[in-house]
Amino acid sequence: MVKLKGRNAIVTGAAVGLGSSYAKALAQEGVNVAVCDLREEIHEVAESLRVLGVNAVSYQGDVSDPDHVRTVVDGAREEFGSIDILVNNAGVWGASVADDDLDKSIEDYEQIVGTNLKGEYLFGRAVIPIMIEQGKGGEIVNIATDHMVTCGTPYFCCPNLETCPWGDSPRPTGGGDAMDLYDAGKWGLNGLLYGWAKALAPHSIRVNAFCMGATDSHMLRGFHNFEPSDEEVASWMRAEDNARAMIDMLQEGPFGRNAQNVNFCMGRPVQLEAAHDHVYVVPEQVRVGETS
Ligand SMILES: NC(=O)c1ccc[n+]([C@@H]2O[C@H](COP(=O)([O-])OP(=O)(O)OC[C@H]3O[C@@H](n4cnc5c(N)ncnc54)[C@H](O)[C@@H]3O)[C@@H](O)[C@H]2O)c1
Repeated sequence: MVKLKGRNAIVTGAAVGLGSSYAKALAQEGVNVAVCDLREEIHEVAESLRVLGVNAVSYQGDVSDPDHVRTVVDGAREEFGSIDILVNNAGVWGASVADDDLDKSIEDYEQIVGTNLKGEYLFGRAVIPIMIEQGKGGEIVNIATDHMVTCGTPYFCCPNLETCPWGDSPRPTGGGDAMDLYDAGKWGLNGLLYGWAKALAPHSIRVNAFCMGATDSHMLRGFHNFEPSDEEVASWMRAEDNARAMIDMLQEGPFGRNAQNVNFCMGRPVQLEAAHDHVYVVPEQVRVGETS
């Protein structure tokens, strides 16, 4: 198990929800954290991290804005001296359907794909050259959705877990009725996952994704008009449990899993499962330390 204390991380979209839990869990492990978000409350998050005894800096802005990305990444590097971990978490959902009119569709695209795909792409592009130059490996975790990999969609991404509540048959989720853009952006993350993992394995930089099912957050409560029933809330996963699973994955270190969509779906324990076999990449291509 690798110790995380003293490392330096960036967590995007960390004002509320999963992002704030990831930032807190990292700080509890002694990791210095740069947090960013559209919301002003991001500065309070940094204050609460400093109380935990680590260095923390905060930036308010939009992950789809390259100037903001540059400010966060350069600022974090200047403050901490290096960047070892990137958690690409910022995400947004908005209803979009196939017959939306063009004006709405363009706005939706900028916001939804802009945040969920372009934001992660830009942060990766800004951080990766720094990690390579540092020459000491690194960790990138992209936060995706279970719409893209739940229980065999696409096939074999989800391991056949004993704890799976859905039995033998795959549970085809493939997204909701008003989610074409949300899902397009999140599916696009597969391109970044596999492309980056292959390119960065020789540099000991791991790239993995968390594919989230329903987890209590501002976003999920918003789906329920901020008045979810107790029964609904009880069925959701907890962000702090998922953050613990992320710490467990980061502690695997450079020889741990790579290029994996790690699936978290409702109804089974929120914990890091064993790595699964690769289907979409040749294993040697993403084995850390080997050139592809
Ligand atoms: N909670 C779930 O059930 C669930 C399920 C599947 C996937 N996810 C994914 O998990 C991630 C976190 O979601 P959450 O549920 O915690 O959501 P949330 O809405 O509670 O938190 C998301 C945070 O991202 C910030 N943000 C949104 N757009 C941004 C932008 N353009 N630039 C900077 N910050 C921005 C928001 O202000 C917010 O603080 C997202 O990528 C989301 O798509 C969540």
